[in-house]
Amino acid sequence: MFVLGIETSCDESAVSVVKDGKEILSNVIYSQTDIHKKYGGVFPELASRAHVDVLIPVIEEAIQKAGSPKIDLIATTRGPGLIGALLIGLNAAKALSIAWDIPFVGVNHIEAHLYASMMNQSVQFPSLGVVLSGGHTFMVLIKSLGVYEMIGQTVDDAMGEAFDKVAKILGLPYPGGPEVEKLAKMGDDSKISFTAGRVKRSELDFSFSGLKTSVLYASKEEHSKADIAASFQKTAINDVIKKISLVKKKFEFSQIFIGGGVSHNQKLRETLKNSFDLPLFFPPPGLSMDNAAMIGGLGYHLYLKNGKDSLDLEAKPRISLVTNS
Ligand code: KG4
Ligand code: ZN
Repeated sequence: MFVLGIETSCDESAVSVVKDGKEILSNVIYSQTDIHKKYGGVFPELASRAHVDVLIPVIEEAIQKAGSPKIDLIATTRGPGLIGALLIGLNAAKALSIAWDIPFVGVNHIEAHLYASMMNQSVQFPSLGVVLSGGHTFMVLIKSLGVYEMIGQTVDDAMGEAFDKVAKILGLPYPGGPEVEKLAKMGDDSKISFTAGRVKRSELDFSFSGLKTSVLYASKEEHSKADIAASFQKTAINDVIKKISLVKKKFEFSQIFIGGGVSHNQKLRETLKNSFDLPLFFPPPGLSMDNAAMIGGLGYHLYLKNGKDSLDLEAKPRISLVTNS
């Protein structure tokens, strides 16, 4: 089954053709970074307008790169994300579904981030899922595809958001995560001792806003920016390791799947791999950051399980992974 995946939840207009949930035939990503750079973050109205401008050409390019197969299903992100941006992709998907007389399904963006690392693996349930993105940071027990138990989440900033804010404090350009990682390579991560936030009575939850404030204070002292970046990055990564170690003591699972933009961070990958003896999976190249292959891939399974969605399906800017509502 050839699935056309569409992703427009934030600042990437992405379209992909995926066969049977895992074979990626094309994965086109039009990044709007240059548009938003001068604002230091995503400007929602400009994101929507850019999606309108580029989505049709990106769809054409993705289909062409895939060898122009007959599309059987359209899968599109319905949330979470920016409402205006989501509506562009959702309405394009509905229009194509009517025009081509094929079904469409709405996909949860964060579930798709998790699916990105599961896509090419034989998954054993239950497994642990860890999503570290710009908008979300949480850990779930994956009981089966689509059935998740939330076991820990951030009470304030997402991990990627913390990287972005630290980048801003250090005067690095947007998007900040990769810039902080680059600068950290030149620094000494033992120079400054930061502590990760602790959430009272909820040891599996994350808190990154205090850490970000500590970075702000450190930036006003006599420290090199590289040392600050390295020390911050180490503290944030070690916090993820600490939380996963705690989860391991409380729950039974045999594999760990990591998803979301921060999973692109090589230091995170390396440190996690060296810290656990369980099989640990990251998204393959091109699938860590926002993309439509993860949407088309997951959409295939959703369609097999639940059938098509109605054309009344609404965009959900704040949809949760656990309840899907
Ligand atoms: O998953 P994603 O593409 O979008 C959301 O759904 O949020 O994640 C984007 C986030 C941004 O906050 C970005 O700074 C962060 O992922 N990120 C990184 C790295 N690459 C992207 N954070 C740390 N190190 C990186 N190399
Ligand atoms: Zn994302």
